[in-house]
Amino acid sequence: MTLIGRRADTARLGELLRDTRLVTVTGPGGVGKSALAAEAIGRLGRGRSAPEVLRVDMAPVREAAAVHRRLAEAARRLPESGWRAAVLLVDTCEHVAGAVVDGLEALLRQRTGLRVVVTSRVPLGGGAGAAAAGGAASSGGAASAGGGVRRRPGPRGATLRLEPLAPDDSVALLESLAPHDALADDAGREALHATCDLLEGLPLAARIAASQLARQRPDRLLERISRPAGCLDLAVEEPRWPARQRSLRASLRWTHRLLTPAEQLLWARCAVFPGTFRLPDAARVCADERLPAPALPAVFRALQRQGVLAVRERGGGRAIAGAAAGAADRPDRPVRMVRPVRAYGMEQLVRLGEEAAFQRRCLDWTMVPDEGSED
Ligand SMILES: Nc1ncnc2c1ncn2[C@@H]1O[C@H](COP(=O)(O)OP(=O)(O)OP(=O)(O)O)[C@@H](O)[C@H]1O
Ligand SMILES: [Mg+2]
Repeated sequence: MTLIGRRADTARLGELLRDTRLVTVTGPGGVGKSALAAEAIGRLGRGRSAPEVLRVDMAPVREAAAVHRRLAEAARRLPESGWRAAVLLVDTCEHVAGAVVDGLEALLRQRTGLRVVVTSRVPLGGGAGAAAAGGAASSGGAASAGGGVRRRPGPRGATLRLEPLAPDDSVALLESLAPHDALADDAGREALHATCDLLEGLPLAARIAASQLARQRPDRLLERISRPAGCLDLAVEEPRWPARQRSLRASLRWTHRLLTPAEQLLWARCAVFPGTFRLPDAARVCADERLPAPALPAVFRALQRQGVLAVRERGGGRAIAGAAAGAADRPDRPVRMVRPVRAYGMEQLVRLGEEAAFQRRCLDWTMVPDEGSED
C-alpha cells in the first residue's frame, strides 16, 4: 500500500535506523505506526543489500512468557551475527511493553548485527541497559520510564513520535480511497473535506470512513460522523483487519483498557473541556477525593504519554532520543482531546453518572478569567 504523506517521517525513521539499533515508533491508535515502520524498513536496501526482515505481531499475546517465546522463535529464524544485516519489527507492544523491553535487551546483546523497530501506542521507557547503544543517536541516555503500563528499565534507543497527518494529506488519503462517484461533484468533495476535519488526520479513521462510501453518499457520511457516537461506531466488516481497528470505538477501547483507574477517570472528566486546557485547569475542574489534586500531575502526564491528551503538532513526527523523551510530556503545554477521544471520554463520564457535576465545574472554570489557570 502506498503511504500518503509521511515522507519526512519515513526518511527520519530510516536515518534513526542507520544510527540506532532500537527505534520505537509511538503515537495514538490508528495514526499509522505499523504502516510507517513497514515502509521505512522496506526502504533500507534493495536486492543483495536489503536486510533480512522479520515481523513479530504482539497484538494477540497477553503473557510475558508468550512474548519471550515469540522473540525466541524470531531469534532462531534470524541470521547469525555478522552474516547479514537483519531488522526485526516488533509490532503492537503497548500492552506487553515490560516483557518486550526485557526480551529485546537479551536479543540485542546476543545478536550484535540486529536492528529492531518496535511499534507501541506508548513509549516503551527504558534506562540502564546498554545493549542497544550501537550508534550516535542512542547517546541520549536513559529514556523516560512510565506510561500506564508498568515496565522495567530496558535497552535505550530512539523514539519517533508520530503525529496525525497534515490536513492536505488527510484529504488526499480520503480522496484516494473514495469511489469515483463520491468525488463527482463539488458538494461531494466539500462533504469529504469536512469529514476529514472531523477525523483529525487519523489514517485509520479515514479508512473506516472511506469504506462507508461504497453504500453511502458523502453528505450522509458527514452527517453520521458529525454525531459523537456515529464517529465512534462507524465500523468495517473486514475480517482481515485486526479487531481493534474495525471501529474507532474498538481502537479507543484498546487504549482505555491499558490505563489505570485514575487515568481512565481523568480521561472521562477532561472530556468536559471544549478546547485546549492545561494541567492547572484539569486540577481545578477534575480533582476531588477520588482523584486527589497531588496525584493529578502524574496522571495527566501519563495521559499525555499515551496520546489521550494531545499536543498538536501536525505535519510530521518528532524523533526523541533517550532522556529527551520526557520533553514532549511537559505539563505546562496546552493540550486537547481529538474529537473521537473526547467523545469516548464523554461516554465514560455519562456511564459514571458524573456528567452533570463536571460540566458544571467546567462552566465555573470557563467563567474565571485567565489567572484561573495559574493556581
Ligand atoms: N500515510 C498513510 N497513507 C495511507 N494509509 C495509511 C497511512 N497511514 C496508515 N494508513 C492505513 O491506516 C490504517 C491504520 O494504520 P496502522 O495500522 O499503521 O496504525 P497504527 O498506528 O499501527 O495503529 P495501532 O495502534 O492500532 O496498531 C492501516 O490500514 C494503514 O494501512
Ligand atoms: Mg500498529
